[in-house]
Amino acid sequence: MSRSGDGRRFRDVLGHFPTSVVAITTTGTEGHPEGMVVGSFTSVSLDPPLVSFLADRSSGTLPKIKAAGRYCANALAADQENLSRRLAARGADRFAGVTWETSPSGNPVLEGVVAWVDCAIEDVVTIGDHDLVVGRVKDLHIASAKTPLLFFKGDYGDYFSTTSLLLDQLVGW
Ligand SMILES: Cc1cc2nc3c(=O)[nH]c(=O)nc-3n(C[C@H](O)[C@H](O)[C@H](O)COP(=O)(O)O)c2cc1C
Repeated sequence: MSRSGDGRRFRDVLGHFPTSVVAITTTGTEGHPEGMVVGSFTSVSLDPPLVSFLADRSSGTLPKIKAAGRYCANALAADQENLSRRLAARGADRFAGVTWETSPSGNPVLEGVVAWVDCAIEDVVTIGDHDLVVGRVKDLHIASAKTPLLFFKGDYGDYFSTTSLLLDQLVGW
């Protein structure tokens, strides 16, 4: 890296861009739930309806998502930090004690999330050390009126003030 400095500086600066914490879920062998946490979920296209996330190519969960050919993006709520830590942990049964239902495509929809988007994998594009996993939207739903879980400067938070949410509901801002 030249003007952008080393990897540490890259992480520090990019950490100042807040992201929504999203659990990407699918099922593996015998319907066992699989998943990982990402901060890279985004919408891609309205027509056709496409979304995407970026997965590190060293991820152990990525091959399972590719093999299933489908995934559900679950927007975690502000009160789900512990769930995020569990789903991002290595070497653990990430879904132990986690309550979920099955989406129309067969992916886990986690209880208590803000919203979810159910997809079939449309394309996988290798970019640098990550794979961009593009999904064609099959179903989507606003699941609750909770505030979202955000990640900013290397930490979790709920940065929406009650005032701004009230204004949102009252004035439609
Ligand atoms: C807030 C947050 C955002 C993350 N964003 C990504 C991401 O966009 N892409 C990614 O590959 N891993 C991301 N991770 C790391 C993964 O959640 C997980 O730790 C990693 O995939 C290792 O597990 P795996 O080998 O099963 O994939 C993120 C972790 C956290 C806590």
